[in-house]
Parts: sequence; structure tokens; C-alpha cells
Amino acid sequence: MASGKRHSMITLLTLLLLLGMVVLDRVASQNYGDALSKCLLFFEGQRSGKLPPNQRMNWRKDSALRDGFDVGMNLVGGYYDAGDNVKFNFPMAFSTTMLAWSVIEFGQLMGSDLQYALDSIRWGTDYLLKATKFPGKVTAAVGDPNADHNCWQRPEDMDTSRTSYVVNQTHPGSEVSAETAAALAASSLVFKSADKKYSIVLVNRAKQVFDFADMFRGTYKDSVGRGVCPFYCDYDGYEDELIWGAAWLFKATNERKYWDYLQRNVLYLPKKVTRLVDGQLQASASFAEFGWDAKYAGINVLVSGWVMNSSNSNPYVLEAGKFVCTLLPESPSKSVTYSPGGLLFRPGGSNMQHATSLSFLLVVYAQYLKKHNGAVPCGNVNAEPSRLEQIAKGQVDYILGKNPLSMSYMVGFGQKFPQRIHHRAASLPSIGKHPEHIKCKDGTPYFQTENPNQNLLTGAIVGGPDEKDQFPDNRMNAPQSEPTTYINAPFVGVLAYFKAFPNPQAV
Ligand SMILES: *[C@@H]1O[C@H](CO)[C@@H](O)[C@H](O)[C@H]1NC(C)=O
Ligand SMILES: *[C@@H]1O[C@H](CO)[C@@H](O)[C@H](O)[C@H]1NC(C)=O
Repeated sequence: MASGKRHSMITLLTLLLLLGMVVLDRVASQNYGDALSKCLLFFEGQRSGKLPPNQRMNWRKDSALRDGFDVGMNLVGGYYDAGDNVKFNFPMAFSTTMLAWSVIEFGQLMGSDLQYALDSIRWGTDYLLKATKFPGKVTAAVGDPNADHNCWQRPEDMDTSRTSYVVNQTHPGSEVSAETAAALAASSLVFKSADKKYSIVLVNRAKQVFDFADMFRGTYKDSVGRGVCPFYCDYDGYEDELIWGAAWLFKATNERKYWDYLQRNVLYLPKKVTRLVDGQLQASASFAEFGWDAKYAGINVLVSGWVMNSSNSNPYVLEAGKFVCTLLPESPSKSVTYSPGGLLFRPGGSNMQHATSLSFLLVVYAQYLKKHNGAVPCGNVNAEPSRLEQIAKGQVDYILGKNPLSMSYMVGFGQKFPQRIHHRAASLPSIGKHPEHIKCKDGTPYFQTENPNQNLLTGAIVGGPDEKDQFPDNRMNAPQSEPTTYINAPFVGVLAYFKAFPNPQAV
């Protein structure tokens, strides 16, 4: 009797669980659109400078209105990179490039969010135009990062030194300059029909900045080191950014010289690169790398889009295929790991940047493959485009709440999401609620408290859980609880795709 009752209880529980999973599944697939809107809203929370009248995230106010004045430039605007108040141009430019690539591939699927996507790009490019206003100079960062990180302060209150770090002909920075050129070139394609004049300004500047990056070679570590390192040192060298910049310029202009540059230089890209993993430098195969520091897989996927059907213009397709094979769980050359709950992992902090940016490349490459009836051979496994999409969709669903903790890693999305993200503006009371100045160290109690943050940075995706799917939701744990622009930027494109096509199907 008792055991029979227990048995039916278990059956009931199983049923409820199954039902719950079905409901969760439905909720997830219906809400890619909601996630897309929020993913874009996040960028408004990262805005620096004078906020526009149509600012929706309105607990944030104007900040850093004198940036650049120390070097006779107007550098007001742009984005804070993460949970601090520094403007690091290298990851900012990369985030802008990824927003632009998202719109180039999937903008027509974004519906009413397309306008917000364009706004998010323009907020980046307006600043990048200021940062490159004078020929032979490129701004690398604004805000003394050590002073900034020593305070827990709202951007609106900042009283730390807003030093501008600028590279030039005698103190060059090819990585930040070439990535800036890539962002401007990619964005010029985005605005080609929406704002032709602006598009021309962007592409012309991209050419000028690329020439500077290429003619005056060097890493910005040697020029403005303490302004950017160790935060965003270019650990893997600047060669990849030069080629990435040339690829975007070729896509934007169709000018032969950029194609020749690519073909001439791509074979000399290093096969092994160094990446920073938990404070240690590690060597790894370059073809599998993609992020703010390394552009290799991005170059190969991007260029494959236009050479996939011609036999003599590779290595791009071969290398892009090798990259895809590092991600498939069933591939003999898989090199990433997956948590028990299914999240993709690469060594090092802020893991979610890999989950979103590699998912983006998978979805984009899947579209290129479909156009050419292609597939990716991984040893004895032949990966169809729908398989690539499935992998990416698994990452999206995990991030949005289909995981062992039933936790959405996007703030403000779903029922349960991080409450203590490592983000100064979000954790401190807003200017509206607390207009009095909060000094550098006076913010410390807000950093240390176990209470939830004061403001919702809607759409922010955090560094994410650990390899056992656990998440402490602890503000002091920056690698897991800090959002960044380059986690969200590629996710914009991924969400736009799954909003339109939620169910990857074999063709
Ligand atoms: C070039 O940049 C370096 C480092 O920012 C700076 O010290 C130097 O004064 C600059 N030179 C010129 C001519 O602007
Ligand atoms: C490759 O495909 C494009 C269109 O997708 C076409 O314009 C081009 O002629 C093709 N090239 C080859 C070598 O088949």
C-alpha cells in the first residue's frame, strides 16, 4: 500500500517534471525575441557620455563628459567594457564589429529590434570616429584602469583620472588600430542603405586607420602599456587583427588590394598562439581561437562566406572546418569541453564569451554551408549545417535557463537570474534615488553586501557557471559574475537567427 502510493507519487512527480521540461522548452523557444530585445538593451546600460533623449535604461545618467580633454580631443561617448568605468577601445571595437556582423547576417530577421541594433552600433562608431579623428593617431583607452579598479564608484560620480591613451606613429598599436578599422568597415556595410552618407564616412575612415595600423606596426603594450595591460593586452600578436581588418575592408569596398593583402599574409599567420589562462600564458592552435584577443576562426568563417565554392582560394574553408570540428561533441578532434549540463567551456575566466561568440560563428557558418550545399567533414563524422545550428541552439537555451540550476544567465530574463552581478553602476544606488556623490571607497559596502544589486542591468549576460554548472551569484567573483560587451555582441546575431528559425532542421 505504502509502496504503491510512493510509486504513484514518483510517477506523478516524473510526469510533472516532464511537463515542466516541455513548458520550459516552449517558453525558451517563444522567447528568443524577448532575449534579443534585452540583449540589445544591455548596451544602453554600458553607455558612456551624454545620454540621448530616447535612452530606455534610464537609471543611468550622463558620465565622463570631459573624456579626451587631457589630449585636446573630444572622446566623450562609447562604451564601458564591463563592470568598471574604463573605455578600452580594443574590446569596444571588437564588440562593435560583432554587432555589425550580427546585423549584416541577421538584421533582416530582427523586426522592430533592428533600429536598436543600429543604435547600438552607431553608439560605438560615433565614438570610434572621434577616437580616430586625427590621422596618425588612434585612441587606445580612456580612464586610468588601475585607479578605476581601485574604486567602487558609479560612472556618473567618477573622480579618478580619466587619462587618454593614444597610439601614434612613433608609439604604434596595430591591434587596436586594425580592430578599429574592422569595426568601421563592418559598420559601413550596416549603414549602406540606412544612412549612405554616414556609411561613406565610416568606410573612408576605416581605410585611413587600416593604413596606419599596417604601416606603423607594433603592439600597444609597448606604447601605452599601463593604460591597457594586463586588462586587454593583445597576447596573441596583432597579425590576426591586420588580416581581419583587411577582410572587412575587402567586404566593404571590394577593392582588390585588400584581397591581395589577405592572400599575401594569411599563410604567415602563426599556427600557435598564446592565450592568457588564469594568469598564465598557454600556447594553443590558432585556428580554434576567436574573441577580443584572437580573430583566427572569425577570419576563416568570414572569408569562407565568399570563397566556399572556389577551389583555389583556401586555406579559409579548410581552417574554418577544422575550427567547427573542435566544437562538435561527436568529432574526433573536439578540443572544447562541455559541462554535464551542456555548456561549452574553454579554459580561463568569463567563459560565456566563448559560448556566445563560438555559437555565432557556428550559426553564420551554417548559413554559408547551406548556400553552397556544404557540410563539414570531421574525421568519420560529416557535420551538416543543421548540426552546427543544434550545437549553437543548445548553448542559447542553456544561457537562457535550460540548465541544471534552471538559471537564466541574462539579467532580467526568465524567473531566476543573477542578482549580484559584478557591475559598479548596477550595484550602487542610482543617481535618481541617491543624488549625492559617492566617493571611491564609499562604494565598498555596496560591493561587499550580500544583498541583491540596486539596479537591473537588463540583458547583461554574466561570465557564467563553473564547469560543474554551479553559480555562486557572488559579486566578488568577477570571472563568473561580470558582464562584458563582447559576451553580448555576438549573441545579438545568434538570438535574431533563432527568433526566426527556432528549430534547426536537416535540409
Ligand atoms: C606618441 O605617443 C606616445 C605614447 O602615447 C607619447 O608619449 C608621445 O608624446 C606621442 N608622440 C606624439 C608626436 O604625439
Ligand atoms: C560562387 O558562387 C557565387 C554566388 O554564390 C557566384 O557568383 C560565383 O560565380 C561562384 N564561383 C564559382 C567558382 O563557382
